[in-house]
Amino acid sequence: MKNLTKYRLASLSVSLLLALGLVGNVSAADVNKLVKECADCHEKDGNATDGETPSIAGMSVDYFIESMNGYKTDARPALKLKDKKEDMKDVVKKLSDEDINALAEHYSKQKFKPFKQEFDAGLAKAGKKLHKKYCDKCHSEGGTSAEDDAGILAGQPINYLKYSMDNYASGKREMGKKMAKKVKKMQKKAGDEGVKQVIHYYASQQ
Ligand code: HEC
Ligand code: HEC
Repeated sequence: MKNLTKYRLASLSVSLLLALGLVGNVSAADVNKLVKECADCHEKDGNATDGETPSIAGMSVDYFIESMNGYKTDARPALKLKDKKEDMKDVVKKLSDEDINALAEHYSKQKFKPFKQEFDAGLAKAGKKLHKKYCDKCHSEGGTSAEDDAGILAGQPINYLKYSMDNYASGKREMGKKMAKKVKKMQKKAGDEGVKQVIHYYASQQ
């Protein structure tokens, strides 16, 4: 709890400093240069279209920074896309903390666009109920809100959602204790099918 408070305060102060324009000295031109590299996989506006890569537009500054640090510290794995030379671990290696803060600020101002994809309406319907019961407390407004600093789930590609849930299940990506408890509860009740159902629910929001 103490650590969490500390972390929250630390990230709060980063947001505050960013808002005041006091963090780092990464110029707008530098940010644009970095964004061009990200666009290779996340597209120019941060809304990826390849069906594997998540959209990063509209994410909260805190979640964005935490994600990037996750790759840095190996708290989460990185996926090597077909016909790409680099993965996210290679990408973050080249970035300073100031770069990451500036990118977080940049992408938090872009508009998130849900990925257009096929989904199973029956699974999505069942998933909506499960989401309400087990996930909405932290992934609010059906998983569309970025304000809860837990990412944006609604409108992400099915493959990315599945990849994420698999990594949590196998322990390749660290999962918060509270989320782990709810995921376990849901699986006890609805099995692996339940995970599939919530994924289709997120995919159905377009
Ligand atoms: C070569 C392709 C590629 C490039 C270039 C790339 N990314 Fe990624 N990014 C991915 C893929 C694939 C994932 C999801 C799978 C994973 O975790 O590795 C991802 C995940 C992320 C996430 C986590 C999203 C979440 O929902 O948790 C963030 C944040 C991110 N990228 C930011 C960036 C930024 C900023 C840049 C540019 C500096 C960048 N990426 C460049 C492919 C790329
Ligand atoms: C107690 C709060 C909490 C609950 C309940 C919770 N989550 Fe999360 N979730 C988080 C946080 C915080 C993150 C981001 C940081 C991390 O990886 O732990 C996250 C991340 C995720 C991600 C990865 C997002 C991304 O962009 O990579 C997925 C997928 C996810 N949660 C699914 C679920 C599902 C499905 C449920 C319900 C069964 C659930 N969560 C319940 C807090 C929660």
